[in-house]
Amino acid sequence: MSTPLPRLTAAEAASLINDGDTIAFSGFTPAGSPKAVPFALAERAKTLHAEGKPFKVGVVTGASTGKSLDGALALAEAISFRTPYQSNADLRKSINAGKTRYFDMHLSVVAQNLRYGFLGKVKWAVVEACDVTPEGEIVVTSGVGIVPTACRMADKIIIELNANHPKGLRGFHDIYEPLDPPHRREIPIYKPSDRIGSPVIKVDPSKIVGVVETCQPDETGGFDEASDVTKQIGQNVADFLASEMKAKRIPAEFLPIQSGVGNIANAVLGAMGVHPGIPAFEMYTEVIQDSVIGLVRSGKVKFASGSSLTLSNDILQSIYDDLEFFRSRIVLRPQEISNNPEIVRRLGLITINTAIEADVFGNINSTHIMGKQMMNGIGGSGDFTRNAYMSIFTCPSIAKNGAISAIVPFVSHLDHSEHSVSAVITEQGIADLRGKCPEERARLVIENCAHPEYKGQLLAYIDCFPNSHTPQALGAAFAMHQQFRKTGDMRGVDWAQFLH
Ligand code: COA
Repeated sequence: MSTPLPRLTAAEAASLINDGDTIAFSGFTPAGSPKAVPFALAERAKTLHAEGKPFKVGVVTGASTGKSLDGALALAEAISFRTPYQSNADLRKSINAGKTRYFDMHLSVVAQNLRYGFLGKVKWAVVEACDVTPEGEIVVTSGVGIVPTACRMADKIIIELNANHPKGLRGFHDIYEPLDPPHRREIPIYKPSDRIGSPVIKVDPSKIVGVVETCQPDETGGFDEASDVTKQIGQNVADFLASEMKAKRIPAEFLPIQSGVGNIANAVLGAMGVHPGIPAFEMYTEVIQDSVIGLVRSGKVKFASGSSLTLSNDILQSIYDDLEFFRSRIVLRPQEISNNPEIVRRLGLITINTAIEADVFGNINSTHIMGKQMMNGIGGSGDFTRNAYMSIFTCPSIAKNGAISAIVPFVSHLDHSEHSVSAVITEQGIADLRGKCPEERARLVIENCAHPEYKGQLLAYIDCFPNSHTPQALGAAFAMHQQFRKTGDMRGVDWAQFLH
């Protein structure tokens, strides 16, 4: 007979964690991220700081988290380093003020980097679960992320047993960890619905130091209503994919879709769902956002594989009320598998991600504002883009009421190079970059994707600096960004000043 697992309060659990420890958290986005223990840890940090004592921990997560984790720990100045993706406003502020050490990574490599020892010793795994047995079987909740590796690598495990998620989630997860080189073999997923692992994480129960019982909803922010601009971007993506099908460059049975994070990605999927030229499709993606659930119900999405259910709470609850319908239509995997380059290439994913800015040649910045300020991080966009059958980047053509053009001569930070990008799509139109040389790309991106307010200025850039393979002038490439810094508007750059 196994010994029952000890119960702890969140404060008791937090009191076990010491200054300098590295913690790996469960979850992927606020879905499945612990809440009570990190919040209590932030309170402990504040108390210790008030006593003049140091207290900071290393924070490794699957992706972004919620306000009780990233938000509370950032406000308490309790983070010694943070990786990978984040999107909490307080943490972002702290990172951009140089107060929190943050380094970004492709999400598919986080777990293996922990195993390879690249991130140092992991002392704790803090894991949100809907069920845990005295034998050490853990059923995680709405997000998986790095949790299988976190549990195996950590010395000790704290479980947040969250009654807000039903025990019936057992069976939604497919937990699989690849071997490390030189022993790694192929990951045997040949279609999005393949299951290759276990529904539970199995750990040595003696590593579980305690279970904190909670009942807290996920801290997912919800999505903005689609605007005219995001609706038009969605329509353009859907039209492009329908025309690719007609041209038989996408097979008749269609190919699995990966769709990125945020409002635009949510709107794009909504448009694909109602487009008559796009047949029912499967998804092999990272985050399953709100719009996917309606499409699963309507049958337009036949199956969705992801690492998290990043949903508004009412939509998540509607799944929990209808678990048996969704059980055969959704699987949640570790991010190492949901984002795995081998599988992305094998399945032939059509990937659709959002850019902050794109340059006229098709290079993409997904992460930085004006080359300096971190937005969220690269997330899985690199895992998918580099290995896609066809990779699409979308964005509105302008930001900040037109003071910023999202189409620029040269990106102010490079996340995805022109070699990995098939098409750029804005509300203005579609630039299909395949098979085109740099000058052709540049003219097409400007003509089809740039906002009318910026077309002339961008064309003048290309015309001012001809006679090379890539019409680029290093001294002028960031002139639009420099002008924005000086005047607050990218319009009206005079290229003539760079001609001599
Ligand atoms: N310069 C300055 N600010 C810009 C900008 C630009 N070129 N382009 C956009 N912005 C601002 C917007 O104005 C908005 O600001 P606000 O929050 O003050 O209103 C903000 O950036 C976010 O834009 P929004 O339109 O709300 O975008 P989104 O919710 O669709 O998110 C990304 C867009 C790029 C931030 C988001 O998709 C992301 O983090 N991507 C990287 C990771 C990724 O692709 N993951 C998916 C892989 S599965």
